[in-house]
Amino acid sequence: MQLNTARVLLTGASGGLGHALAHQLVQHGAQVLLSGRDAAKLQALRTELGSAVSLCVADLTQAAGVAQLVQAAQAFQVNALINNAGISAFGSLQTQPWDSVEQVLQTNLLAPMRLTQALLPHLRSQPQARIVNVGSVFGSLPFAGFVAYSSAKAGLRGFSQSLRRELANSHIQVLYVAPRAIQTPLNSPAVNALNRALGNASDRPETVATRLLQALAQDRKEVHIGFPERLFAWLNGFAPGLIDHGVAKQLRTIELHAQTLNPDRQP
Ligand SMILES: NC(=O)c1ccc[n+]([C@@H]2O[C@H](COP(=O)([O-])OP(=O)(O)OC[C@H]3O[C@@H](n4cnc5c(N)ncnc54)[C@H](OP(=O)(O)O)[C@@H]3O)[C@@H](O)[C@H]2O)c1
Repeated sequence: MQLNTARVLLTGASGGLGHALAHQLVQHGAQVLLSGRDAAKLQALRTELGSAVSLCVADLTQAAGVAQLVQAAQAFQVNALINNAGISAFGSLQTQPWDSVEQVLQTNLLAPMRLTQALLPHLRSQPQARIVNVGSVFGSLPFAGFVAYSSAKAGLRGFSQSLRRELANSHIQVLYVAPRAIQTPLNSPAVNALNRALGNASDRPETVATRLLQALAQDRKEVHIGFPERLFAWLNGFAPGLIDHGVAKQLRTIELHAQTLNPDRQP
């Protein structure tokens, strides 16, 4: 897709990766409909970006929020949807409040599926259209301490692949992008400390935004960012026992960092 003809609905625009994506999209000449829940952050971004952007404040986990966004997207004549909004939750499944598990699945999996479904008739009416789903390395390398998040992102990857196959005879293409850790507010201090302890690299949001937009411009189907994460994710596909073994060695470190969240609870 040529980015200078793109009219993009960007969810999660008020977040770290969203901010970088919005800036780079506008630099490429795209028109962008920015979405998020934090109206003040979206207004500030609009002030930075000028007339190429519009706003829609909506909670994607609510049916009314999705309906509002679909209406705004139709009026904006979007031809690209970037499902970027997401939340994470760190901690053992046993100690995680069920509400938090549900919220992670709602936000990272059900909300993008619902928004995509609702926008498909409109996207079909465009001469060409793209759907981009922002996943995670944990979608292909599910990790201890991130059970709900890994499950949601693995689901999002399955959604992206099955939808791509379902739309094969249409002019709508689906791209799934799986970043490794990114330096954004998504990661709590405990997660940042864990990443440091495990030696996990973390990318700048601008770097990830550039990779995502390159993939969109080149009509790629799936992009995994970072090495050796890409190798481990691939290995997990046919030899998950090897990954089980590797993560087991890191489990004590993961548990210790998770315990800093709930010092009274056992992991
Ligand atoms: N950071 C990482 O390490 C990392 C690694 C791999 C993949 N990712 C993925 O990258 C994407 C962007 O995350 P980020 O790192 O930029 O995180 P972030 O800075 O925390 O931003 C998250 C964005 O999602 C929006 N959001 C959350 N819940 C929402 C809801 N119910 N309705 C509407 N919007 C909602 C937030 O909007 P408000 O703030 O306005 O509520 C915010 O704009 C996510 O899909 C994430 O899973 C991140």
